Amino acid sequence: MSYESVDEGVRALLQTVHTAFERTFSAQPELIVVSPGRVNLIGEHTDYNDGFVLPAAIDRHVVIGLRPRNDRQVQVHAADFGDTATFSLDHLVRTQHQSWANYVKGVAWALMGDGFGLNGFDAALASDVPVASGLSSSAALEVGFACAFQTLSGFELDGVRRALLCQKAENLFVGMNCGIMDQYIVSLGKAGHALLIDCRSLGYELAPLPAGVSLVICNTRKKRGLVDSEYNTRRAECERGAEVLGVKALRDVTPEQLEARQGELDPVTYRRCRHVVTENNRTLQAVEAMRGGDLARLGELMNASHISLRDDYQVSCFELDMMVEAAWKQPGVYGARMTGAGFGGCAIALVDNEQAEPFAAQVAALYKQNTGLDGEIYICRADDGVHVLA
Ligand code: GLA
Repeated sequence: MSYESVDEGVRALLQTVHTAFERTFSAQPELIVVSPGRVNLIGEHTDYNDGFVLPAAIDRHVVIGLRPRNDRQVQVHAADFGDTATFSLDHLVRTQHQSWANYVKGVAWALMGDGFGLNGFDAALASDVPVASGLSSSAALEVGFACAFQTLSGFELDGVRRALLCQKAENLFVGMNCGIMDQYIVSLGKAGHALLIDCRSLGYELAPLPAGVSLVICNTRKKRGLVDSEYNTRRAECERGAEVLGVKALRDVTPEQLEARQGELDPVTYRRCRHVVTENNRTLQAVEAMRGGDLARLGELMNASHISLRDDYQVSCFELDMMVEAAWKQPGVYGARMTGAGFGGCAIALVDNEQAEPFAAQVAALYKQNTGLDGEIYICRADDGVHVLA
């Protein structure tokens, strides 16, 4: 296998994977799958309201080395945890221990449930997507293994259907009621671009990232407890709002309509709806700003998104607010906001290329000063979605 075209990060992961595979299975892998994490530029908590999102796949990855087997056994070694999970495709059960393996089992379960015949394999994986940080390490794992099953078992699966099956695995097998955004962008991301995804039609448009800016991801390193968090409560509040307003989903409501019917909603539901309805608008405007190269406008929309998530949707937290406020103060920043589900995890800032390095140092220092915590800053670029390495 020739890895000449891969970047440094993937190359380091490949080395780990090869070593781990050799040590675990006394052989070399025959197939390599590379699956990215993701960051969302804007359009937060809109996907499960049939709305719009604008994420990008990033140059942080899960790398999986594989070798087919002639039976129905699956063995997966996670080099980062020094842990091997073994299971049969005929007996897929969710377990408390080795919870990471539930994502692999869930994907097998969803694929077989849709009628795909699967073969077993041996696999070793390594990742530099931080876990439980809001960069979708779990979607990277799911979509990576869906791609592995599809390649090794020899069937076609288009990117949208693959994302839907991975979402189904996460919803029904793992037990996290997420929307479609994460699996979709990991499945279909394009280098140098964000994707404007219409979460109702499941179509997308490419939105080229303007030249001269970096995606700077600022990790608070406050772990989110997503499954236990308020995520499901927010979903229920949105559904209640849609029901009172007599629409299929909040996607179908304009800010003016919501304003006119405020009196019919209790104050909390009204604020939740206001976030979703205005966020959909901001997301569409953000794509316009990107197309017109208007970085100042794009940044303003990102800042407004953070305020709405903080005050109306109430999914930010002290650490995220401190990180975002530190980012807002720096030279060269166009905009910054929390990204992902919230309650910890990461913020995303759009920063002038020239200023990205000093930005990273200053934000980390200010965050430390205000919280006592060591955050982590990653200067990223938009990368391709899942792929097999040739
Ligand atoms: C998580 C979910 C996504 C989406 C975001 C919030 O990442 O997995 O489906 O709802 O939160 O925008």
